Amino acid sequence: MSDIRENIVVPEKEQLPLDVRRGSGLTRVFLEIGFGNGEFIVHLARQNPDAYFWGVEMSRSCVLRALKRIQGEGLNNVSLLCGDARFILKECIPKESLDGIYMNFPCPWPKKKHSKRRVSSGDFPSEISGVLRKGGFFELVTDEEWYGVEVRNVLSAHPSLQLGEWCINPPRLVTTKYERKWLEMGKKIFLSRFVKNNEEGYSERSIFLRRAEDVHIRVPGKGSLNVFVKGLYNQGGGNGESLWVYKRSYASGDGGAHLVEVVAGDGSFEQKFFLQIVEREEDVLVKIAPYSSPFLTTSVRGALEGLGGLIEAHYAESKGTMPSKKERVL
Ligand SMILES: C[S@@+](CC[C@H](N)C(=O)[O-])C[C@H]1O[C@@H](n2cnc3c(N)ncnc32)[C@H](O)[C@@H]1O
Repeated sequence: MSDIRENIVVPEKEQLPLDVRRGSGLTRVFLEIGFGNGEFIVHLARQNPDAYFWGVEMSRSCVLRALKRIQGEGLNNVSLLCGDARFILKECIPKESLDGIYMNFPCPWPKKKHSKRRVSSGDFPSEISGVLRKGGFFELVTDEEWYGVEVRNVLSAHPSLQLGEWCINPPRLVTTKYERKWLEMGKKIFLSRFVKNNEEGYSERSIFLRRAEDVHIRVPGKGSLNVFVKGLYNQGGGNGESLWVYKRSYASGDGGAHLVEVVAGDGSFEQKFFLQIVEREEDVLVKIAPYSSPFLTTSVRGALEGLGGLIEAHYAESKGTMPSKKERVL
């Protein structure tokens, strides 16, 4: 049986972009977006031991369910990534590295306010095209005709993607949980398959995110922060699509050092990490705890600066003075 940890890849702990060609002699690489309970990806991996499969899923409980299947079958040609496919394609998967991408029954996001989450929206088509090698395919199956038609029309208008197939109720080698549900209800299934036909047209905006290492703020002032740190629970802030919340905190036994757990999100990309507060002779250092190493997104910066600001305000309040300027290394 394979070691379960080998099947989960945590982007924050990896050198990006990921090396997607894992395993010796495995030349073809495929990815499934939103694998749900993992039936489809596990079936593909079992049937194709000469290929490598990556699964991307936002739901942690789905990742755990799929891991159980992978472990149960002892598969060593599958890795799972927990996160938003839009982020994973942009930041983690190398350009022109995949032979195919599958997307089975994605949420169609029918409400207008959610429409930018559709695969047909924004940069998503370019991100898909960008990670496919020339000749690679993207296949999407849906039970919603309007969504299938929208995806077909938008993606086939992309300069690097060509519509290869459009079918209703296609014969399928393996069905997914949602597919069986919709078929039992008598719904139709719509499949579109696109082929990448040239090497141009992918989004050049993709930059691999910088890790928040050696990032700190120095706040002038002194005095124990034990009580202050306890009061941080569930405080937080926001900046557009970026939000952060301080959760549990821990103090070192001899005082003077604290750890604060933070949950921070940029759009639907969420990270959990620790901030460290170190009380020194003349000042306080607020920094990203070295072992948690999140990506330096807007929300991570916000959480760090926000905590510095709260400490500054706390000292100013206890002295009855106005906060002074912090020194930042961001
Ligand atoms: C309707 S379910 C379909 C699950 C499975 N493919 C099936 O056919 O049974 C859609 C899945 O996509 C996942 N999902 C939605 N948006 C996603 C995104 N941006 N990145 C990764 N997974 C996503 C959801 O968590 C959910 O498990």
